[in-house]
Amino acid sequence: MTVYLMKKNRWFFFSILLIFTTAITLCLSPTTSLSREAVTLRSLADSRGLQIGAAVAANALRDDAQYRQLLAREFNSLSSENAMKFEPLRPQRNVYNFQEADSLVNFAKANQMQVHAHVLVWHYQLPKWLTEGKFSRDELKAILKDHIQKVLTHFRGKVSAWDVVNEAIADDGSLRNTIWLQGIGPEYIELAFRWAHEADPNAHLYYNDYGGEGLGTKSDAIYNLVKKLKAQGVPIEGVGMQMHTGVGWAPQPRDVIDNINRLGKLGLNVHISEMDVQIQKASGTESEKLTSQARIYSQILGACLSSRACKSFTVWGLTDKHSWIPGFTGKPDAPLLFDTSYRPKPAYYALLEMLKSH
Ligand code: XIL
Repeated sequence: MTVYLMKKNRWFFFSILLIFTTAITLCLSPTTSLSREAVTLRSLADSRGLQIGAAVAANALRDDAQYRQLLAREFNSLSSENAMKFEPLRPQRNVYNFQEADSLVNFAKANQMQVHAHVLVWHYQLPKWLTEGKFSRDELKAILKDHIQKVLTHFRGKVSAWDVVNEAIADDGSLRNTIWLQGIGPEYIELAFRWAHEADPNAHLYYNDYGGEGLGTKSDAIYNLVKKLKAQGVPIEGVGMQMHTGVGWAPQPRDVIDNINRLGKLGLNVHISEMDVQIQKASGTESEKLTSQARIYSQILGACLSSRACKSFTVWGLTDKHSWIPGFTGKPDAPLLFDTSYRPKPAYYALLEMLKSH
């Protein structure tokens, strides 16, 4: 009878078999597509009150629907990678251009995300009219005050935190010799925080730097700087640890924890503000490099989760397609959580596991 039926209805049986085997394959295969992933970084971070963020490339946000989808799905916070820097925001002395930054803020609002705004006072990405101009101390103070207050007023109520001063300490622990130090003097740091607070008393104001994440000369200098600011009543909320690292040269998690805790004891919060993990100098197979990279991401998130002072964990870019590292180092790399085709990497799964288990 079966033989007869099979002969007569060969296509029917074939279709049933195909549906059955497809269903089995789907159930057993590892999850490769994010659309089947019920739990996300964002859902896990939300449930424990952590901000999990990514720096946003303005072009990709504008042009790439897949980029927007992934961003909103996995993160509850955005940092502006370039859009809020001095040069793009203020191309001429009396001209402010908020277009790109506004798009980012609008996207965040539409997707119930926080915005971590970056950055008011830095020595890079400054417009030529500023770096090549000749200004007296009073003029430079007026330029900086105007900048900080116009920008904070524009974004008042739309941005939760600001990097007020970025990279003011040199690697040897001294104050970095910048246009601001030369033109205004060391008090530019304190003034910047006070001007920002005047313009938006509700914004959380951060000092942000690299190379001071663990323990050592630079982190001591950052610690001493913010301790002094606190003691002077300067309205500083916390410290951003950039965390640009690589396989083979990441800070020790124990040191990061100790550093976060000593800043916490000053009454300051800590953000891991720009994490990426280079693999270009690592040895081994691609898979070994990605496994080591995943371990570093997970250890640093673990360090953040182990201290109440650490409120936010941000990666400096969404996918390897848009990372700044290949341009900066002149070598190919893959330092982020998603690959160039936007597929999650071992580092992504390591962060998920850390959020689930810590
Ligand atoms: C980088 C951006 O990612 C690049 O696109 C840009 O060309 C240069 O700046 N520390 C910081 C960030 O505080 O502003 C830098 O961002 C990376 C290092």
